[in-house]
Amino acid sequence: MDAHVNVPQDGNFTIRPLDGLMGAKIEGLNLSATLEAPVVHDILDAFLAHHILIFRDQDLSKEAQVSFTENFGELEGHVHRLPNGKKLPPVHIVNNLDPEGRPTAKPHTTGNYHWHTDKSYHAVPSLATLLHARELPPTGGDTLFANTTRGYETLPEETKQRIEDLRVIHSWEASRRNTGNAPATEAEKKDRPPVTHPLVRTHPGTGKKALYVGMHTSHVEGMSESESRALLDSLASHTTKPEFVYTHTWRPGDLVMWDNRCLLHRADTNYDMDKHRRILYRTVVRGSLPF
Ligand SMILES: [Fe+2]
Repeated sequence: MDAHVNVPQDGNFTIRPLDGLMGAKIEGLNLSATLEAPVVHDILDAFLAHHILIFRDQDLSKEAQVSFTENFGELEGHVHRLPNGKKLPPVHIVNNLDPEGRPTAKPHTTGNYHWHTDKSYHAVPSLATLLHARELPPTGGDTLFANTTRGYETLPEETKQRIEDLRVIHSWEASRRNTGNAPATEAEKKDRPPVTHPLVRTHPGTGKKALYVGMHTSHVEGMSESESRALLDSLASHTTKPEFVYTHTWRPGDLVMWDNRCLLHRADTNYDMDKHRRILYRTVVRGSLPF
């Protein structure tokens, strides 16, 4: 951790909704400690209500982050391999470092900088993602979240009807192509073949409908590539309009947990990436089949 964090010791905590569409700050909890069932219950309630939870002033080891994550379900691995071909560990280290550990504006992968919902190229995609800030640039390096429930709800009725039953192919291969990254390797493609999800998915916890789009999408089933791309891009632009977006400005010690079932997110390059290190620990909770 690059700055001193006063981890709270008291069991009393507060949940304060942010002004605006979504998000809540949770203060006064030490996530390194074992949480009692009623506390986990309160966190889950807040998670369903606010979609993004910001826990302030944490100092979690990787092991403690794994334990905290396991309160919410099964931990998920990652298909993407390291340059040496090895699989990523359960705590993935999000960073802007080159192989020598120096900050770089040309990191190994740039997928994070495009709007996406985590692992939508999996048959069973991610429920929640947890990011814990370990080293931050002096300013910037924000993470943006877009509310896809509001995106769906604000579409014209006619569009809602038109897209209601459409299904979309998502793939790791398309994701790499869409983001201008090196093509997926044969091993990655074999490991993670394309999957199909509803374009409008229903949140299993709230029953609300949300757009399920983002950079991992390939095309709409039964639609031409150009027609598909135009539709998917227009829905993604609609749901990522500023009025549906919350920008998280990181503070040392933040742990942010978000709901991939009703949000898109992306990292911002609004800092001097060649100069400053930005390191966050990431854990992911496995979700359920979208419907
Ligand atoms: Fe992500």
